[in-house]
Amino acid sequence: EKAGYDYFMLKEIAEQPKAVADTLLGRIDGSGTLSLDEVRIPPEVLREVDKVVIVACGTAYHAGLIAKYAIEHWTRVPCEVELASEFRYRDPILDQRTLVVAISQSGETMDTLMALRHAREQGAKVLAICNTNGSTIPRESDAVLYTHAGPEVAVASTKAFLTQLVACYLVALYLGQVRGTKYGDEIRDVVRDLSRISGAVERVLETMEPVRELARSLAHKNTVLFLGRHVGHPVALEGALKLKELAYMHAEGFAAGELKHGPIALIEEDLPVVVVVPSPRGRSVLHDKIVSNIQEIRARGARTIVIAEEGDEAVVPYADHLVRVPATPTLLQPLVATVPLQVFACELATARGNEVDQPRNLAKSVTVE
Ligand code: F6R
Repeated sequence: EKAGYDYFMLKEIAEQPKAVADTLLGRIDGSGTLSLDEVRIPPEVLREVDKVVIVACGTAYHAGLIAKYAIEHWTRVPCEVELASEFRYRDPILDQRTLVVAISQSGETMDTLMALRHAREQGAKVLAICNTNGSTIPRESDAVLYTHAGPEVAVASTKAFLTQLVACYLVALYLGQVRGTKYGDEIRDVVRDLSRISGAVERVLETMEPVRELARSLAHKNTVLFLGRHVGHPVALEGALKLKELAYMHAEGFAAGELKHGPIALIEEDLPVVVVVPSPRGRSVLHDKIVSNIQEIRARGARTIVIAEEGDEAVVPYADHLVRVPATPTLLQPLVATVPLQVFACELATARGNEVDQPRNLAKSVTVE
C-alpha cells in the first residue's frame, strides 16, 4: 500500500505533482480560460457577491489565508478568513450576497460543518472545497469543487493542502473571470502558469536530499522559527504546524514584518530560523525587506535556512542553508515553497523516532467540536 515508501506521508508528498495536475484537469484550457461548470452557483449570483468568507481548520485554514491574497487581488472582492471553530460564536455578518467557502480535506470536520450550517442559516451561499466524495460538508453545501488528491492516509496533510491551494486559485480566477475584472490579461497568464506548476513541484521534490540532511542535523533542537511575508506568511505558519504535529517541537510562524514588534527577542545563538523569501521579481519591495530581516536575525546569531527562488542572488551572503525553488508568480509560490517544509518536518520526526503517519494525540478526521 505504501508503494515502497517507509511512510504514507512520504508517498503522499511524492504524489503531489500528480495531485496538483489532477485537480487542474478539465478545469483549465490552453487558451487561459476556466470552465468550472461543476460550481453550480449561477454566474449572475457570483456577480452579485460582495464579500467572500473562508472557514476552515488547521492546514486547510492556511490554504484559506493564501486564498485571501488571490481572491482580493484578482476579484477586488473583500475576503475574510476565519478559523471555523471561532466563526459562529462571534455572530458574523452574513447575507445573501456573501459567498462562504468551506475548505476541508475530509469533509467531516465538525467545526467546519457547524460554521457552514450557521452561514446557510443566515442566507449565505456555501461553496465547499473538499477531497472526499459524498462526505457531509459537500452534501450540505450549495456547490462543491472537489480536490483530486486521492485518499490521504497520513494524519499530517500534505498533498491535500497543495490541491486545496489549487482549488482556491481556481475559485479566485473563476470569480475574476465571471465578474470581468480589470485583471483579465493577468488571469489568462496565471491560468497558463498554473498549467505548468505541477512540473515545478516535481523539480522541488528532486532536490530535497540536502533538506533531509539538514533536518537530521537539527534533531536535538527544541525550537524552530519560521518567517514569511505576503503569501509566504501562511506558508511559514504551515511549516510550523507540520513541525509541531510531527516532530513535537516548539515551532512558530511569524510575519517577517512583525519581528521588530516582539519575536526578534527570541533570536539567540544557533536558533534555526526558516525564512520563506518572496520572488525578487514583481513585488520586489517585499523581497528587499525580507533580505534585511534575514540580515537582522543572522547578526543576532540565528542559523538561517532560506527558501528562495532560483536565481535570487541577494540572499546568498546571509543564508547558512539555501533551499532553491523554481521561479513562479508570487501568488503561486506557496505551491513550491511548502514542499521543502513538509520534507523537513517529516525527516525531523523520523530522526526523533516519532511515528510519522500517526502522531500522538491526533486523529485524521476531527468529528467533535
Ligand atoms: C494538519 C492537519 C489538520 C487538518 C484539519 C482540518 O496536518 O491535517 O490541521 O488540516 O484538521 O481537516 P479537514 O481538512 O479534513 O477539515
